[in-house]
Amino acid sequence: MLPFESFSYPFFDLNYETDHQATVSAFLSTQGIPIPNDADPGKKALYVHIPFCDTICTFCPFAKSVGTPERIDAYLHALQVELQVLGATRRIAEWQLDSVYIGGGTPSVLSPEQIGTLVAAVRANFTVKADAEVSFEFEAKSITEDKFQALAELGVTRVSFGVQSFEPNVRKMVNITASLEQVYSAIELSTKYFENTNLDMMVGFPGQDRDHARLDARSAANSGIGSVSIYPVDYVMTLPGWQNRIRAGQLPRPAGLDERSAMFHESRQELLKYMSEQNMYCFGAAEAPPTRYMFSTLYGGYRDEAVGVGSGAYSFIRGLAYMNESDERRYAKAASTGVLPITRSSPGHAYEKGLVFFPKRLTFDMRDLKVLGLEEVYADRINSIVSDGHAEIADGILRLTESGKLVYSELMAHFFSDMQQRLYHRMVARLSKQVGVIDEHEWQAGAGRVAAMGAASALPGASSRRNTLPLVGSPQ
Ligand SMILES: C[S@@+](CC[C@H](N)C(=O)[O-])C[C@H]1O[C@@H](n2cnc3c(N)ncnc32)[C@H](O)[C@@H]1O
Ligand code: SF4
Repeated sequence: MLPFESFSYPFFDLNYETDHQATVSAFLSTQGIPIPNDADPGKKALYVHIPFCDTICTFCPFAKSVGTPERIDAYLHALQVELQVLGATRRIAEWQLDSVYIGGGTPSVLSPEQIGTLVAAVRANFTVKADAEVSFEFEAKSITEDKFQALAELGVTRVSFGVQSFEPNVRKMVNITASLEQVYSAIELSTKYFENTNLDMMVGFPGQDRDHARLDARSAANSGIGSVSIYPVDYVMTLPGWQNRIRAGQLPRPAGLDERSAMFHESRQELLKYMSEQNMYCFGAAEAPPTRYMFSTLYGGYRDEAVGVGSGAYSFIRGLAYMNESDERRYAKAASTGVLPITRSSPGHAYEKGLVFFPKRLTFDMRDLKVLGLEEVYADRINSIVSDGHAEIADGILRLTESGKLVYSELMAHFFSDMQQRLYHRMVARLSKQVGVIDEHEWQAGAGRVAAMGAASALPGASSRRNTLPLVGSPQ
C-alpha cells in the first residue's frame, strides 16, 4: 500500500517561483471560462478555517495553536475582511454555494456571539443556497448546549467532531484531553439538535494492532452518533515533532504500511456490520448522504470548486490550486489589510482531480471525460484498472470494486499527473529516509504496483523545472 492518505493532494512545488499573491488576484479577477457544451456549473463550496484549539493533539498537521482572546479577535476581524475581499472578486461573486464548512482547528472554542458574527459575514459576502449544507466542526471539551442551540438557529445543518480513538491509552499518548464522558455527552447533545452528525476516528496509531482497531471501530459504530468517518493516520503530513519522537523511540513504532492498511480495512469491515458504506472513509445510515463539502466538491470533478478562507486554507478552483499563509498571526496581519494572504499556488488544477479522488468517493462520472475532451487521455489508465478487476463501468459510472478498495491509495496515485507523481515520490522518499515511519521497501513496492498499472511516465526521476511547470494534468 502507498502512504497516500487523507488530505495531502495536490502537492505544491516549493521550487515553483512566482508572485503567488499577484497570480491568484489576477486569476480571481477574471470570469471562469465555461466548459464548452456544458451547462453544469458544478458544485461550489466555502471552507472557513478556525486555527485555535484548547489543547494540541500531537499527530495533528493542521494550522492551529492555543490562542488568546486578543489573537482570536484579531483573527476573526481578518477573516471578515478576507470574506469581503474574496466574495467580491469577479470569479467568486457569481458562485452559489452548495456547502459551507467551518472547520479547524476547533471552531467550538468561539463563543456563540463570535460564531453568529462569523456566519453573518459568510452570508453577507457569499450567496448560500437555501438548501446548502452548513457544517461545523467542534471538539468535546469546548462544546456546550447553548452553542449547539446557537448553531441550529444559525442554519448549521451538520456537526462533526474528532474522537480518533475510544482507547484511553491511545488518547493519552497523543494528548487528546477530552474525557470519554465529555465525548458521550457531546454525542447525546449533538444528536438532540442535528439530524446530520459525525465523529472522526483514526486508525494506525503507534502501538495499535488489528484487535484494537476493530474494537475502536465497534465503539464508534455503537456510540449513538449518526455517521462515522475513519481515516488512516497520515504520517506523511503529520508534524515533525511527532515523527521525531517516533524515531527517537519515545513512542512505540507504528505498524508497517501494509499492516496499517490491513488495520484500516478491518476497521471498515467492522463498521459495515453496523452501518452502511457511504464512501472509502464514511459510514452511516444507508439513506444519509456523506458530507457534501468533502465528497461532492473537494473530491468532485473538474467543474466542482472550493475556496478557503483563514490561515492555511486551501482553495481548489479550476485552473488553479492555492494556499493561504499558515501562520495565524502573519495571516491576520496580512488579511486585515485587504490583501489576499496567499503563499503558494499551483497552476492547472486539475483535469484529473475527479479521477484522483475517485477511489475515495468510490464512483466517477465518465461523462466528465467526454465533456472535457479527455476520453483518450485517460482511456489506457481506466482500461488497465478495469481489466485488473479494481473497477467496473456501468451506465457511464466508473465504480470501485472490492478488490479496488484494498488498493485505493495506489489507484489514486495511478491517476496523478507526472508532476504530482514527482513531488509525491520526493516527499515520501525523504520521509522514509529521514524519519523511518514509512518503510522504504513497502512504499517502493507500492510505487512499483502503481507503475505496473500503467500510469504515464510515472516514477520519480527528474525534478520539476523552475518556473516551467506544466499544467497539472494538462492533456498535451
Ligand atoms: C483537524 S480536526 C478538526 C476538528 C476538531 N478540532 C477535533 O479534533 O475534533 C479534523 C480531523 O482531522 C483528522 N486528523 C487530524 N490529524 C490527522 C492525521 N495526522 N492523520 C489522519 N487524520 C488526521 C482527525 O480525524 C480530526 O478529527
Ligand atoms: S485534532 Fe482537532 S483538537 Fe486536536 S490539535 Fe487537531 S484541530 Fe486541534
